[in-house]
Amino acid sequence: MKAAHYENYGAADVVKIRDMPRPEIGEGEVLVRSAAGTVTTADWRFRASAFPGALWLPGRLMAGPLAPRRKVLGSEFAGQVDSVGANVSRFKPGDRVFGMSPKFGAHAEYIAVPETGAIAHMPENLDFADAAALPFGAVCALVFLRDFAPVQPGQKVLVGGASGGVGVYGVQIAKHFGAEVTAVASARNHDLLQSLGADHVIDYRKQDVTRGGKEFDLVFDTAGTLKFGAVRRILKSDGIFLPLEFGIADAFAALWTSVFGGKKLLLRVNGDSQADLEAVRDLAASGAIRAIIDSRYQLADIVDAYRRVETRHKTGSVVIDMPAPSADAADA
Ligand SMILES: NC(=O)c1ccc[n+]([C@@H]2O[C@H](COP(=O)([O-])OP(=O)(O)OC[C@H]3O[C@@H](n4cnc5c(N)ncnc54)[C@H](OP(=O)(O)O)[C@@H]3O)[C@@H](O)[C@H]2O)c1
Repeated sequence: MKAAHYENYGAADVVKIRDMPRPEIGEGEVLVRSAAGTVTTADWRFRASAFPGALWLPGRLMAGPLAPRRKVLGSEFAGQVDSVGANVSRFKPGDRVFGMSPKFGAHAEYIAVPETGAIAHMPENLDFADAAALPFGAVCALVFLRDFAPVQPGQKVLVGGASGGVGVYGVQIAKHFGAEVTAVASARNHDLLQSLGADHVIDYRKQDVTRGGKEFDLVFDTAGTLKFGAVRRILKSDGIFLPLEFGIADAFAALWTSVFGGKKLLLRVNGDSQADLEAVRDLAASGAIRAIIDSRYQLADIVDAYRRVETRHKTGSVVIDMPAPSADAADA
């Protein structure tokens, strides 16, 4: 099978397309023939060893201190079940599934996933590209806005990086929970964000969002550009700042606010569970959220996809279309 492989951390062109053996599945595992994947900010961070702030050292240790442990990146996938291992009961060959690979490996034509992992039947109203575009951003936004800082109807929520891979779902999910949503992004993305439900839009290039005068119950920053010291100005007295990127100073500030109360800084990292993926599937099936695709690339052009992701100005997801199954029918 074809896979996007890299040996060493570096620029996008360290990634090369190679022929590799298909993963072998064991008991309780599902082999998926991928139709579409994505390049996420996580793939870029692991490829380039570009972990933000306080996460650099743990990120590098997890990825491999000297060279990457996982040579094929990619977490999101959508495709059809090719075969199943012993004792798999939830999935059968031919099922249309999507999800997140727990140990990367999704930049390949075949992916092995545990039956109990983040894999679910696709919503019937979505195609493979849309389904592949959902898990990373939508599961993150759901867990942050439902579990870490549960959004209540009527709350005022500001989403920073609202047009990015997580932000487009942050806007839709906060709106789904009944919030009044202010979306922060470049002006060219404002029409899209309003169509996703944003009540107000701010162009961060023209206005300092922390000096708007309005107060928020929650500021969810996915872009990594807002700092607690400034965000405090626009938080209500019991408001929460929930950033996706943070440094050492933020860890101390978060500890301080957890002890002394008042305006809070919360630092969290989400996992990828089957239950959360199914919740995202149900939101997409009901029309509460929709997938946003920035651009699509063939697997052979994945280096260009990485370059697009690294701009930090993609709108939603960068999708990778896998070669059609007939192209490798005899391949193993
Ligand atoms: N903690 C966790 O568990 C967790 C989970 C998932 C992801 N993450 C992290 O979350 C972050 C967001 O991921 P993503 O995929 O959403 O990123 P992304 O798609 O690259 O985000 C792009 C967004 O950032 C905005 N942006 C770019 N430069 C900006 C600036 N100078 N000021 C304000 N906004 C700016 C863009 O706005 P315009 O293009 O409209 O200008 C766009 O809305 C990443 O760092 C990722 O590693 C963390």
